[in-house]
Amino acid sequence: MSTKSNLLKITTAEVLAGLGSKRTVALESKFGNGDLIKLLDILGIGRLLTVKSPWLLEDDNGKEIINAGGYAALPFGEMYPPLLEFIHSYLEKNRNMGLPQQSASEWRAALETNLVSILAAELPSHADSQVFFSNSGAEAIEAAIKFAKAARKKAKYIINFSKGYHGKTLGALSLTPNEEYQALFRPLMPGVKTLRYGDAYLFEKEIKRIGPKNIIAIVLEPIQGEGGVIIPPKDFLPTVNQVAKKHGIIIIADEIQSGLGRTGYWFASVTAGLEPDIITLAKPLGGGMVPIGATISRKNIVKKMLGGLESKRHSNTFGGGSLAMAVGLKSLEIIIEQDLVSKSKQNGEKGLLRLKEIQAKYPAYIKEVRGAGMLFAIQLRHIVKPAISFGQSDLLSQLGTALAMRAFHKNGLHVCFTLNAAQVVRLTPALNMPEGIFNEVFERVEKTAKNNRSAWHMLPKTRADILAKLAKLAL
Ligand SMILES: Cc1ncc(COP(=O)(O)O)c(C=O)c1O
Repeated sequence: MSTKSNLLKITTAEVLAGLGSKRTVALESKFGNGDLIKLLDILGIGRLLTVKSPWLLEDDNGKEIINAGGYAALPFGEMYPPLLEFIHSYLEKNRNMGLPQQSASEWRAALETNLVSILAAELPSHADSQVFFSNSGAEAIEAAIKFAKAARKKAKYIINFSKGYHGKTLGALSLTPNEEYQALFRPLMPGVKTLRYGDAYLFEKEIKRIGPKNIIAIVLEPIQGEGGVIIPPKDFLPTVNQVAKKHGIIIIADEIQSGLGRTGYWFASVTAGLEPDIITLAKPLGGGMVPIGATISRKNIVKKMLGGLESKRHSNTFGGGSLAMAVGLKSLEIIIEQDLVSKSKQNGEKGLLRLKEIQAKYPAYIKEVRGAGMLFAIQLRHIVKPAISFGQSDLLSQLGTALAMRAFHKNGLHVCFTLNAAQVVRLTPALNMPEGIFNEVFERVEKTAKNNRSAWHMLPKTRADILAKLAKLAL
């Protein structure tokens, strides 16, 4: 018979005291997404990173690493003291149920109210919109798809765009045109028509061809994050808006990465001339501490799916949980009190200028840089010329991105992989990163470029045993 002690192999007290890097990697390799951890470990970026301050990490050799990773979900860095203090007081004073599924909740009410208020300040026609909460970006997208489908029952197509990223659950995956992620799971949700992102002329032509009345919704990111920080031409979003409004097609703006200040505005879509009917939010709303997703939708659309006795047609167990709502509420407060939306715009402009200087100095390493607020992309040169990649250019560019992440890491910078773009790493520093550390981010980008000179140099600079291990894992 199992006893308590041999069922639980590791106690909370042990984790609090620290399991150590080696043991943690071994356990994760065995019991978690093992190959991912092994791959990261081989690349020298998979070991434990501990939190030194909201903006600084430390590796297991005691080396300081600036955190420009976090995939836009760390608006204040890690464990930001004012947010922690608030969570302590929440734990002491909260009177609401943890998961108020069948009753009203003060925290949820407050967050619903404030999200709608922030959106309506930008787009007044949303003054009576409603919010549905979930636990991730993908789940916020799933809700958006269902809202739109329920509201335009006779139509059958959803328009999405090349290089878009909306998540990996099956509905969201259907809208994420990436062969690597989709291939194994076909048939996916039917009726998805993928158009070229940023091409207003083609968009109008295709909408005419498909027939506007057949179209349920248009789903897009106003700035593509996982696509490599792609800002569409100025006429694109206004054209989408005009066509959609004329025909009553629902616009779903995925602001999960771009929204709430990351790209320098509350809502990049609204700033660029789009009047979305549904907006999805997630990442920064959780303050880097809790999972959360939010789907804000016009009232008439909500009524079609969740009206009257059908109000349970879409639901989940954890969405709207009090802790997540409270942290979301506090996160919005911090963003406003510290003026982080305009700070993101100002610092973003400064950062992009620095990146452009570095690119001009090291063009053999960095091909191009892009930025929108505090969302930066560094597009590297190919490690091997596509012409001699023997049909393996996708694999080689993933290897190139991984080697670049390793190179940045070695130079003290934690960066983000980019899921839908080749050879692109992103920097998503905290919106409140102190000036000195923010400047140092770019010093370290420059140091990485200087140490490698050309993207190709990362290969001979990578130890042969590491390359051999990588090859073994790939086979
Ligand atoms: C624009 C966008 N939509 C949706 C998602 C999916 O969010 P999650 O990873 O929380 O499911 C992401 C995640 O990167 C994203 O950037």
